[in-house]
Amino acid sequence: MTLDLSPSEIGKFTSAYRALDFVESDMKLGLGTGSTAAWLVKLLAYEINNKGLNISACATSSETTKLAESLGIKISNLDELGQLDLAIDGADEFDQNLNLIKGGGAALLQEKIVETAANKLVVITDASKQVDDLGTFDLPVEVVKFGWKTTKRLIENVLIDQDVDCRIVTRRNNHTPVITDENHYILDLKLNRIGNPNALSDALLNIAGVVETGLFLGMTHSIIMGNENGLARVKSTGSLDWVDTSYDIQSLSQFIKNINDI
Ligand code: 5RP
Repeated sequence: MTLDLSPSEIGKFTSAYRALDFVESDMKLGLGTGSTAAWLVKLLAYEINNKGLNISACATSSETTKLAESLGIKISNLDELGQLDLAIDGADEFDQNLNLIKGGGAALLQEKIVETAANKLVVITDASKQVDDLGTFDLPVEVVKFGWKTTKRLIENVLIDQDVDCRIVTRRNNHTPVITDENHYILDLKLNRIGNPNALSDALLNIAGVVETGLFLGMTHSIIMGNENGLARVKSTGSLDWVDTSYDIQSLSQFIKNINDI
């Protein structure tokens, strides 16, 4: 069977598929944002429609709300659900301590709010997201519009104080600044390597105009890393070992086709 999907996309599907093992009926779930999380949403819709899975869910972005609702998943307000059993989301990078950079999809603020309200955060990724040190991926920082150029300057000063070499780029779409779901701007910090993620996070959050950063530190319960051969590797906090599950790639491919046809 030929699938029109890149190896990375098959890896993302594999990790989302493995994440279903963490989902139980009647759970309250937080649904992440991005292409990996989109696979999860599609898989959940399949489980709900074909296997009687019952969940309550809230989303981390308007994009995920739209996708979930288009597939028949009811999306509730986080405040209606209260404490969540589980949040599942993608990431742009993760390190060996399961710390993350997120926000490539500009949804970091709602993601952090939802994911800190969950008993467990399971992160789904393909193998390309694994790094020794965070920072190759630009670090997104969400800032309020009011005085944002001043905020940008203050961020530069923080980075100079921390002796970090950095360029800051305002995220744009067709030359227009990207506006987040919460009506803020995103500044992307080109850092290359983040030596001390906790110190950087604290310093950035100390600036009044900074709403949130894409550093998700000490939040992850488990990382699932999928690859194009149907291997899903799970690493959980407190353990140095990866636990592997291997799926038959032919069956997985058939399943991807079914899911894509929903
Ligand atoms: C959105 C995010 C995403 O989870 C992150 O960008 C990963 O996206 P993808 O699964 O498409 O690679 O943080 O704000």
